[in-house]
Amino acid sequence: MKGLLISPTFPVLLSLIASFVTSLEQPSGSLPSACHFTCETSMNGTATFDFCESHSTLKIVGRCCLNDTDLGTLVLGVDLQKCGLSEGQFSAAISNMSNLMYISLEGNNMKRLQNFDFHQNTNIEYLSLPPNLSCPGGNGTWLMESSDANSTICQFEQNACDVHNVSCPSNSHCVHSGVDMVECLCNDGYYGYKCLEQGVFPITPFLIGITVPTVVLCIFLYVTQRRHVIQQRHKKK
Ligand SMILES: *[C@@H]1O[C@H](CO)[C@@H](O)[C@H](O)[C@H]1NC(C)=O
Ligand SMILES: *[C@@H]1O[C@H](CO)[C@@H](O)[C@H](O)[C@H]1NC(C)=O
Ligand SMILES: *[C@@H]1O[C@H](CO)[C@@H](O)[C@H](O)[C@H]1NC(C)=O
Ligand SMILES: *[C@@H]1O[C@H](CO)[C@@H](O)[C@H](O)[C@H]1NC(C)=O
Ligand SMILES: *[C@@H]1O[C@H](CO)[C@@H](O)[C@H](O)[C@H]1NC(C)=O
Ligand SMILES: *[C@@H]1O[C@H](CO)[C@@H](O)[C@H](O)[C@H]1NC(C)=O
Ligand SMILES: *[C@@H]1O[C@H](CO)[C@@H](O)[C@H](O)[C@H]1NC(C)=O
Repeated sequence: MKGLLISPTFPVLLSLIASFVTSLEQPSGSLPSACHFTCETSMNGTATFDFCESHSTLKIVGRCCLNDTDLGTLVLGVDLQKCGLSEGQFSAAISNMSNLMYISLEGNNMKRLQNFDFHQNTNIEYLSLPPNLSCPGGNGTWLMESSDANSTICQFEQNACDVHNVSCPSNSHCVHSGVDMVECLCNDGYYGYKCLEQGVFPITPFLIGITVPTVVLCIFLYVTQRRHVIQQRHKKK
């Protein structure tokens, strides 16, 4: 009878653990899907390609330019020319890439790109767009803008805190958080609504909140697995 009670739970737990493990493994090993897009032209000869080739520490994989650092693999450039992308598809494709410095987008079917299509990118040095599109953001967002028959080029994203001369409420400071976007973050030692609470963020209750269920789950797993092992041995005899 005992065996009947335990055995249905065991496969369920196993599959839960398995899915947890694979969800942990996926981000570290795999690149964003945009690096593997199939596009009409090769990456050779684009500004993103040249940037990547000119730094010995950078390497090209698929349509991405990568920097392997202690913190993991950073995507510094992406060449998405003639990949048949709409604005929405482009925006979704770069949603995991917040370190981009070079982006090439000519030859896609886009009407307009806006600053929020670029997520948390604060360090773009070179962005090339289909002709007749204007650079995202307002006046002053880019140090240089130019255009010809084949492309619009936006260079050197500027710090939006400086461009707009932002003054944040007391106990907070301005942080450049995206193309023509800012955030006011609390200064050290302040937290909460309008940064009015003083002291350190109450981290201890949060840690206990996570640890207790984890410990309980571990004990539960240990007991159920142990039981299973004992039963298996019992069966073999
Ligand atoms: C972004 O990363 C998450 C997990 O880190 C992954 O599930 C998702 O597919 C990624 N998105 C793209 C567009 O690569
Ligand atoms: C791209 O350039 C590299 C060297 O820069 C070369 O080896 C490769 O054959 C080129 N690929 C294409 C499709 O032109
Ligand atoms: C690549 O990463 C290394 C280590 O973090 C860093 O020193 C270097 O400046 C990066 N290269 C570029 C071109 O950003
Ligand atoms: C860009 O605009 C010009 C005139 O404003 C037009 O002649 C040209 O065909 C447009 N190019 C594209 C690719 O839409
Ligand atoms: C942006 O700058 C141009 C000229 O440099 C000016 O005519 C225009 O009014 C400005 N727009 C805004 C929103 O400040
Ligand atoms: C635009 O592209 C065409 C074809 O690649 C090329 O012949 C032409 O010189 C380019 N025009 C400019 C202004 O770069
Ligand atoms: C920026 O803002 C501060 C106060 O908010 C003001 O004193 C200063 O003149 C402004 N500077 C510019 C360049 O607008």
